Amino acid sequence: DLMNEVMGLSKLQNRVKEKLGIKKVIIIPGNYEKNESLLKDVAKQGAEYFLSILKDTNIVSITGGSTMLEFANSLRGDKKYNQTTIVPARGGVGKDVETQANNIVAIVGKKLGAHYKLLHIPDELGVEAMKTLSLEPEIKKTLNYIVDTDILVFGIGRADEMATRRKLPKKQVEEILSKGAVGEAFGYYFNKDGEIVYELNTVGINLETFKSVKNNIAIFAGASKAEAVTAISKVNDNMVIVTDEESAYKILEIN
Ligand code: F6P
Repeated sequence: DLMNEVMGLSKLQNRVKEKLGIKKVIIIPGNYEKNESLLKDVAKQGAEYFLSILKDTNIVSITGGSTMLEFANSLRGDKKYNQTTIVPARGGVGKDVETQANNIVAIVGKKLGAHYKLLHIPDELGVEAMKTLSLEPEIKKTLNYIVDTDILVFGIGRADEMATRRKLPKKQVEEILSKGAVGEAFGYYFNKDGEIVYELNTVGINLETFKSVKNNIAIFAGASKAEAVTAISKVNDNMVIVTDEESAYKILEIN
């Protein structure tokens, strides 16, 4: 019955939380891989948790991807946060404008009545061009906000999938995977010990900032991402994850 189900979920949440050694785990019943509409429920629950900790005056960094787009779309906008600033955690990825962090930041910013800044920088640029761009006053301002992030909300990807989605040259994909990358978040590829083995040449959140953020909320659906999230959870134990039930069981199976 319902009571048992609720008890079961809260036990599962605690087991995952203890296994990963992180702050909090929120689980949506069901299996995303059998029912893709669960992504919406996971994202919505992520949005609720985010609003429950958001304080006006906070700086919020957000990444791109389809999960974060659902997050933005499901966010309630009934309370206004006019002292809050929303920024993308990284420059844009690929050609899909809708799922780029800039677009997601604009949706969230408007809904919350918050200030928001965009990062008009492609993800892959030459090193020199990148250096020059990061000195531009507007870009510098945004980057300074990112360093002061109070809440980071981000999606997680499998390393192999993200390397392919980003249409990296085959040689580069092979290099990333041969270095043991299992997970990707905000442009960094992590091995199973949570070490960065590869990073995109782009501007945005750096490892130091990620390590020190007090509230970082990873939202993802799909047991295929269990290894990725396990790796990334080793970087900062202030992490909160919001996911589906099947992914939670999968995390418990990982050695
Ligand atoms: O490309 C941005 C990004 O947040 C990646 O860092 C992450 O791996 C991916 O999107 C997650 O995408 P999705 O939510 O579509 O699975």
